[in-house]
Amino acid sequence: MDLDKLRADFPALCQDNPVAYLDNACVTLRPHSVINAISDYYTHSPGCGGRSVHRYGTAVSKSIGKSRKTLAGFFNAPSVNEIVFTRNATHSLNQVAKGLHWDKGDIVLTTDREHNSNLVPWLQLEEEHGIDHRVVPSKDDNTFDMEAFEAMCSEAGDKLRMVSMSQIGNLDGVQVPIRQITKIAKDHGALVCVDGAQSAPHMPVDVQDLGIDFFAFSIHKMLGPSGMGGLWGREDLLNSMRTIQSGGQTVKTSHYDRVEWAKTPSKFEGGLGHFAGMMATGEAIDYLSKLNMNEVHEHEIRLNQIMSRGVKDLDGITIIGPDDAAKRGGICSLLLDESLPAHDIALLLDEVSGVMVRSGQHCVHSWFNNRGYNGSLRASAYFYNTEEDVKRFVDTFSEAVQAFQ
Ligand code: ALA
Repeated sequence: MDLDKLRADFPALCQDNPVAYLDNACVTLRPHSVINAISDYYTHSPGCGGRSVHRYGTAVSKSIGKSRKTLAGFFNAPSVNEIVFTRNATHSLNQVAKGLHWDKGDIVLTTDREHNSNLVPWLQLEEEHGIDHRVVPSKDDNTFDMEAFEAMCSEAGDKLRMVSMSQIGNLDGVQVPIRQITKIAKDHGALVCVDGAQSAPHMPVDVQDLGIDFFAFSIHKMLGPSGMGGLWGREDLLNSMRTIQSGGQTVKTSHYDRVEWAKTPSKFEGGLGHFAGMMATGEAIDYLSKLNMNEVHEHEIRLNQIMSRGVKDLDGITIIGPDDAAKRGGICSLLLDESLPAHDIALLLDEVSGVMVRSGQHCVHSWFNNRGYNGSLRASAYFYNTEEDVKRFVDTFSEAVQAFQ
């Protein structure tokens, strides 16, 4: 990868005194092409797609169709109808959880490292519909415990309805073996839903090869606009699922006393959409498609090795997850002793050296609460980060740790 050339595409990286942006697990930076596409919508075709037939409406409809096709190609989805635009991965996971029919006692398995988006909807279903949500414990180093999972599948027997897991955790960057998990889940007749918010931006994803049923992703973590996410699902499942946002666009027709539902994806895209976002999504995915995702993954690991080596021996620091950075992608998430306030250190990193990281519980409250930790300080790299960025993080962080102790 030609980093200088790539970085020139990102206005946020082309300022005087550029920042070391290491909060990519939360939201990525956007290239010119994405920013221009947003502006193009408001400047050249500020109409309503999917409904109005005038030139603005037609231009928007065509462009959204193109974005959907680009996403289908990116994930190797068999049909463009299987790509649903949502507001974010949270919306996508809620659509899956609340769109399927549940019987009391149906068992859903997640891991103990899930973002709230893949935990709270299941807890709601447990309370409201009597499903049985169970948590598969990870090994001590936060890697997936296949034996525990297999045992829990067997114990669940024919009550197992759903296995829903994040492919890569936002807590620690640890990847779970989705293909193997899916094989076992399918042997038990369960559906498989993957939270791909942290995997889709960083590695190749082929939904057919994985053999899964649903894949939720977050476009603002993939160079795309804020407030944009997506859901891939098998067409037959999507067509039989209830929409959680009914209204305009979601029906073939309606009468005073009944509805004839539209098919996927319209059924799930109720109300006037984020057209600028959908159009710019196509540009974001085009940009990612030009990169070699295996190279992206390797680059992030190289940067994480520098970060992990640089901080692991500091007093009062524990890296969450395995010692080997190669098992944590681009994420270096640090538990800090009580003498080291994570939010203050994150602020200091930004103020002193323009290093931006995230501090707190990263919406994985359950993991922290269960272990009695307040939170972590998390640096997360992407393809446009340089060795200089991560060395700046290590140097400033090391100085901060010494200053606080
Ligand atoms: N926004 C969440 C994070 O930063 C996913 O980890």
